[in-house]
Amino acid sequence: MTIDVTVEEGVKTLRMNRPDKKNALTNEMYHTLTDEMISADGDDSIGAVLFLGAGGAFTSGNDVGGFMKQATSQAPVEEGERGVARFLRQQVEGKTPLIAGVEGLAIGVGATMLFQCDLVYVADNAMIKTPFLDLGVVAENASSYLAPLIMGHQKAFEMLCLGEGFTAEQAYHAGFVNRVCSVDEVETVARDAARRLAAKPPRAMEITRGLLRSDPETRLARMLEESEHFAAQLKSDEARNAFMAFMNRKAG
Ligand code: COA
Repeated sequence: MTIDVTVEEGVKTLRMNRPDKKNALTNEMYHTLTDEMISADGDDSIGAVLFLGAGGAFTSGNDVGGFMKQATSQAPVEEGERGVARFLRQQVEGKTPLIAGVEGLAIGVGATMLFQCDLVYVADNAMIKTPFLDLGVVAENASSYLAPLIMGHQKAFEMLCLGEGFTAEQAYHAGFVNRVCSVDEVETVARDAARRLAAKPPRAMEITRGLLRSDPETRLARMLEESEHFAAQLKSDEARNAFMAFMNRKAG
């Protein structure tokens, strides 16, 4: 399985587990993540969802082969292929608190999902990066709205447009990381916070979280607007060339 699901003490842990590809997310993985988040929302015994990676990385983001497939396909996207769209929508609309424990690389959607999380713990070796522009595509997951809200225009621009990557310390100072931990302790710290959240009175938690995230319509509208641009850019020459360059980078 490429998403390992475990439940313990009210915490559902979703571990992205495809280490040979740095946990790059496939359509199937997005569907599983989404199904598990939706089922957590409907399960009174779950009070928090914890995202983890495997093999020393959080995730290298969307599978570039998947991007390539969409970039070159003439056929309309089938319902079953809309894993990422379901995932992004659930990140905005879900009710269960989301926690991330990040070791190593968090790229693309692996970075932008941190803006949607309620608590974020990163290891001191974390590298958080959004190479959207270099790939010829655009910011997603409402990050063009959330990143400036969290860290101001210039830092958001640095992350989303310059795309050079934030270290754990930079991410902490930018304001979307709660704590920088050692590699050895990051999962324990994230899990402990998730457990403490899950033990709180659920209705009070739901109301308070809803008040703190009081802008779901704005998040959703921006996410959908970004997705339209993203889908159009996927078909552009600049994107196709960038995907090709990645796929062929080890050849010759
Ligand atoms: N999609 C598909 N495959 C990916 C991937 C991704 N997002 N990220 C890594 N992989 C694969 C590599 O192709 C490689 O596979 P191979 O062993 O069959 O050649 C394997 O994972 C290991 O990656 P590699 O590039 O050899 O490791 P690295 O440590 O040198 O670099 C990354 C790691 C993540 C920096 C680099 O792989 C990368 O830039 N990946 C693309 C990230 C990206 O653009 N994501 C989309 C964001 S919108």
